[in-house]
Amino acid sequence: MAERLKDRVAIVVGAGQSPGPTPAIGNGRATAMLFAREGAKVLSVDRELDLAEETAELIQGEGNAASAAACDITEEAQIEAMVKLAMERHGRIDILHNNVGISVDGNDASPTEITTEAFDLITAVNLRGMVMTVKHVLPVMRERLAGAIVNISSMAAWNNYPWVTYKATKSAMIAWTQQVAIQNAEFGIRANVILPGLMDTPMAVDTRARAFERSREEIAAERDARVPLRGKMGTGWDVANAALFLVSDDSQFITGVALPVDGGSSCRTG
Ligand SMILES: NC(=O)c1ccc[n+]([C@@H]2O[C@H](COP(=O)([O-])OP(=O)(O)OC[C@H]3O[C@@H](n4cnc5c(N)ncnc54)[C@H](O)[C@@H]3O)[C@@H](O)[C@H]2O)c1
Repeated sequence: MAERLKDRVAIVVGAGQSPGPTPAIGNGRATAMLFAREGAKVLSVDRELDLAEETAELIQGEGNAASAAACDITEEAQIEAMVKLAMERHGRIDILHNNVGISVDGNDASPTEITTEAFDLITAVNLRGMVMTVKHVLPVMRERLAGAIVNISSMAAWNNYPWVTYKATKSAMIAWTQQVAIQNAEFGIRANVILPGLMDTPMAVDTRARAFERSREEIAAERDARVPLRGKMGTGWDVANAALFLVSDDSQFITGVALPVDGGSSCRTG
């Protein structure tokens, strides 16, 4: 197999996975596994250490390199400690993949029903957490005049979406990624953002099934029907493949782009 990330050190934040049945795989877990398959040494990071460890073990089980670390990205001190740990373990950071994002779980709601508590919580996780992670990784990347950052937004930023905070944070992330890209281009650091559409992941399908007391099959069928390409949701591997392209040298002249991975749903707005 090609080793497009040979010997690179990759931090995947949110590399664990929401509960749900296998074989549905989350975007973060699939990305961590794919980076490792392509030769990267992966630091699998999650607020829940056991979930980060599960991903690291899956990677090791394939004969690839990974270790795990706990970090709640709503706590800046924990981010600082995680970056320090990555440097102690590997001495460099080539790739930062920011996957963490919540919606239903954070009690997000419509414009007339949103509460201060829910807005603050989801903003702290979805937006501030990534901003602070990038803040602490950038100095390390700047020193080596190289690095690739991928942030995970959502097509909710561009498409009609019912709830306030997910839409607001995922939209803000696009503008902020462009800011990171332009302010770090002179250091050889690239920053891009992926907008997944409707994906068949435990976070999207099983979390909704639990929250709305409906079956996985019902939720999945409704989501499938909304996807232009083949009437089928994408998977975590589709996001992982896009991320691999954006962190590898194949995209060495690409920075500041917002890439939909959505089976064509963005064409409806264009
Ligand atoms: N699945 C979809 O349909 C879809 C669509 C659009 C965008 N996305 C985006 O994809 C990303 C998530 O995909 P996934 O399938 O890997 O989800 P997931 O929920 O399976 O994995 C996310 C991980 O983040 C961890 N996490 C949550 N809060 C954290 C915190 N404060 N600090 C550190 N870790 C924390 C969770 O424990 C979990 O393991 C999100 O950014 C989401 O908005 C998903």
